[in-house]
Amino acid sequence: MSSVRPLIVIAGVGNGLGTGGATARLFAQVGYRVALIARGADKLKNVADELSATGAEVVAFPVEAYGYQDMTNAFAAIKAHQWPSAGATELRVALYNAGVSVRKPFLENTEKDLRTVTDTNFNGAFAFSRQAIQEFLKNELDDKGKRGTLLFTGATGSLRGNITTSAFSAGKFAMRSLSQSLNKEFGPQNIHVAHAVIDGAILTDFHLKRFGESLRDNVDGRLDPASIATGYLYLVNQDRSAWTWELDLRPAHEKW
Ligand SMILES: NC(=O)c1ccc[n+]([C@@H]2O[C@H](COP(=O)([O-])OP(=O)(O)OC[C@H]3O[C@@H](n4cnc5c(N)ncnc54)[C@H](OP(=O)(O)O)[C@@H]3O)[C@@H](O)[C@H]2O)c1
Repeated sequence: MSSVRPLIVIAGVGNGLGTGGATARLFAQVGYRVALIARGADKLKNVADELSATGAEVVAFPVEAYGYQDMTNAFAAIKAHQWPSAGATELRVALYNAGVSVRKPFLENTEKDLRTVTDTNFNGAFAFSRQAIQEFLKNELDDKGKRGTLLFTGATGSLRGNITTSAFSAGKFAMRSLSQSLNKEFGPQNIHVAHAVIDGAILTDFHLKRFGESLRDNVDGRLDPASIATGYLYLVNQDRSAWTWELDLRPAHEKW
């Protein structure tokens, strides 16, 4: 990649303390420029400012939602962005991390719930993938023999439906099958597409509220976002002679 700086685009950043934020932090540390796409301009700016304060080159691209047009517009803005430091940029990694946790008995799901899930997990993921792959196709092969790596954050619900997960699982299943099809279609063009099944509770504010502060110390019972990010860097560093489509990450003492 010589003097060209690699860029990672991440869609779905939340408050910066989950998987999206941890991945941004790790890739910035290893030399990537970082473009963040998420809802809520103020919240996103806080995350970007925190990362910039560590010396990272980070830009925030707020969106209204994770719809098809939102993702397409965000990529157009990313491509037009002038990075302050010298050197060209190539998109080398794209992570679709957005996920909406609709958990309700089937009969309580509303049309709005369904629309949010469909937009976030399918329409948005589809448009994000399309934009990322179009950029990857312009790249020369890197030192791993790849043009780029497209990652998806999945969940237990990507493999297993359950009570209260009819909408959530349907969305995650759809995203998983999208990633599998893209892996098959674009592997021959040396684009690596991988899906991570995150099978357990991630240490986030949401789960600290749900399970209490003891979750923080229960290192074998929950997943650390920084450790998931390490898994993503591992996928990106795989060469094309042996790459993973699906990675399954779970805490050591899981009981499910
Ligand atoms: N938390 C867990 O225990 C767990 C377990 C397995 C898998 N996952 C998956 O891991 C990914 C990252 O989650 P994380 O917990 O680590 O937190 P995170 O990285 O902070 O990301 C949370 C994501 O959820 C999005 N989101 C929340 N409510 C939403 C809504 N109503 N509509 C659209 N998007 C919404 C956030 O969007 P904004 O950035 O726009 O706010 C953000 O993209 C998600 O795809 C999630 O499904 C999570």
